[in-house]
Amino acid sequence: MSIAVRDLVHVYHPGTPLETKALDGVTFEAAKGIWVAVVGHTGSGKSTLAQHLNGLLLPSGGSVSIDGVTIRSGEDSLRVVRQKVGLVFQYPEQQLFEETVFQEVAFGPKNWGFPPDEIKYEVEKSLSQVGIGPEFFGVNPFRLSGGQKRRVAIASVLSSRPDYLVLDEPTAGLDSAGKRQLLALLLDLKALGKGIVHVTHDMDLALGLADIVLVLDEGKSLLWGPPELILGELLEHDIRGLVIPPMVRFAGKLRDLGFEVPLTWDPVRLADAICRSRRP
Ligand SMILES: Nc1ncnc2c1ncn2[C@@H]1O[C@H](COP(=O)(O)OP(=O)(O)O)[C@@H](O)[C@H]1O
Ligand SMILES: [Mg+2]
Repeated sequence: MSIAVRDLVHVYHPGTPLETKALDGVTFEAAKGIWVAVVGHTGSGKSTLAQHLNGLLLPSGGSVSIDGVTIRSGEDSLRVVRQKVGLVFQYPEQQLFEETVFQEVAFGPKNWGFPPDEIKYEVEKSLSQVGIGPEFFGVNPFRLSGGQKRRVAIASVLSSRPDYLVLDEPTAGLDSAGKRQLLALLLDLKALGKGIVHVTHDMDLALGLADIVLVLDEGKSLLWGPPELILGELLEHDIRGLVIPPMVRFAGKLRDLGFEVPLTWDPVRLADAICRSRRP
């Protein structure tokens, strides 16, 4: 059971002077209970990929399937897929359209035919999970701050109880407390068995939180593997737009000097390893 992407190609505005190949053969898999981070420089195709995972965009080539259901045009597969995969857009303004926060978050469960008491339960639970109190239920989402809009957009996806959450730069616009709270919530959801696909350009977050990292470069899947493997590659070759966390650079330098330390972004782990490592 997974999101399986095979040789995915996406061309915007084909056959026109604006033709752009945004994805050019992307392959990866995202399973339930696993956190996949998708990283890459601006324009590498992250948002385009995110929109393929719930059928908002359809492949120009290759395929995307969700728990064995291949996404195609036509109501049936799209309905199944959209219920299983919740997509939180990069810009929350593109996601919000209802008159009140409550209606916004109720839209999904209503659309899927949840009974009224379950709709109310899911709306209240989702908004409380993202830290939006009842005093906001009647407010127009467009009157909220950037951070609050993002929280409501996330709640509007959680309320449909998706199996997979695809979040495009979800911590943008949140202050550090909001960011911590959201990441803790995503870790909880992962522990409950949801699959998390986290699009981010923040390598610290990707390396620290993800089980597997997909690195996109010019629409191609460049690297795919656990954070340790990605780090090793990043230290060997510079990858455009990806910044290696300073702590990892430091660990790499120590290894060059002969210290037996892991390539880690965790200062405590590194300090422990330095203490244990014999001087070269
Ligand atoms: N709606 C669109 N129409 C035409 N080109 C687009 C559109 N959206 C994105 N692109 C182009 O596709 C490429 C990938 O963009 P995007 O998926 O937004 O990358 P990222 O999220 O990594 O910044 C870029 O060259 C971008 O200009
Ligand atoms: Mg983007």
